[in-house]
Amino acid sequence: MLSQQIEALRASFREALAKADTKEALEAVRVSFLGKKGPISDLMKGLRDLSPEEKKDAGQWINALKTEAEAAVAEKGKALEEAALAAAIRSAKKFNPTLPREASHGSYHPITLVSRDVNRIFSTMGFTVEDYVEITDDYHCFEALNIPKHHPARDMQDTYYIENGQLLKTHTSAAQNHIMRKYGAPLRAIFPGRCFRNEAIDACHENTFFQMEGMMIDKDVSISNLIYFMKTMLSEVFGADLSVRLRPGFFPFTEPGFELDISCTICGGKGCPSCKNTGWLELCPCGMIHPNVLREGGIDPEVYTGFAFGLGMTRLAMMKYGVKDIRDFNSGSLKALSQFDAK
Ligand code: DAH
Repeated sequence: MLSQQIEALRASFREALAKADTKEALEAVRVSFLGKKGPISDLMKGLRDLSPEEKKDAGQWINALKTEAEAAVAEKGKALEEAALAAAIRSAKKFNPTLPREASHGSYHPITLVSRDVNRIFSTMGFTVEDYVEITDDYHCFEALNIPKHHPARDMQDTYYIENGQLLKTHTSAAQNHIMRKYGAPLRAIFPGRCFRNEAIDACHENTFFQMEGMMIDKDVSISNLIYFMKTMLSEVFGADLSVRLRPGFFPFTEPGFELDISCTICGGKGCPSCKNTGWLELCPCGMIHPNVLREGGIDPEVYTGFAFGLGMTRLAMMKYGVKDIRDFNSGSLKALSQFDAK
């Protein structure tokens, strides 16, 4: 009997469907029951052998089974998809904001740390912190600083020249003229910056390094003011009184000029490669600003005087953190650099 045959088919379809628990298994059930070569298709084909009376009922039964099977496959497909999604969500790693951070959180570069220290100390003494370019011109780097073309002082500061005639600044003093023109007198400013020189590289020389320039210009500024500010700043940075010595030094943009040295904090003054075995480190060349430099900056040297200094920030960081080789700073080596942290 056809109706029994259809019922048996319906039962086996439901059983197969219930067992299909993956998308692939479901597809296999669909093909085997509803495919072109499946039993429902065969039943349809058999209709043409029936009488018109029988055909009517049989047609309805077969169609009902086909519609029911198609709907059941679609419904089961949806249910399987939802279950798969729910499982994926369940197994996904959940973000928990209350857990401690797993990844390492990085650290500041030692130059950044000492710069912040020095910025803070000078800010509390009324100095503004100024920014300046890394690429400048011959006038700012040399001529405005009383270093005319062919002056022998240029030999110490060979640098990298750009085809358009500009150059990478060799010292932060290159900003002196710009800042005098910007503010006029009186002024107190520090200006940190990256400097470049064509250097033979060793444990204490790099072609790229940092300085912090400072200037104070006012009526009656003297060498005593210079010494006071330098000593205050250094004892703040190192958190202790250091041995400091002042020697005469020559810079075309100062009159008089000095070399300020501190006792080497790596060897305690005994002598080591970091201090070229002298026990002292040239940390801060400085001096009274040359009248020609003031005049070039639009300031009357008959009325105003001032001091300036060029603090070696890279050296200062070496001293403060006991870094033996200047090359570590530009190495990009996280092993070396991640040991410093902002405290
Ligand atoms: N610009 C000099 C250099 O890099 C250092 C310097 C010396 C800066 C004396 C100054 C100064 O401001 O007064 O060699």
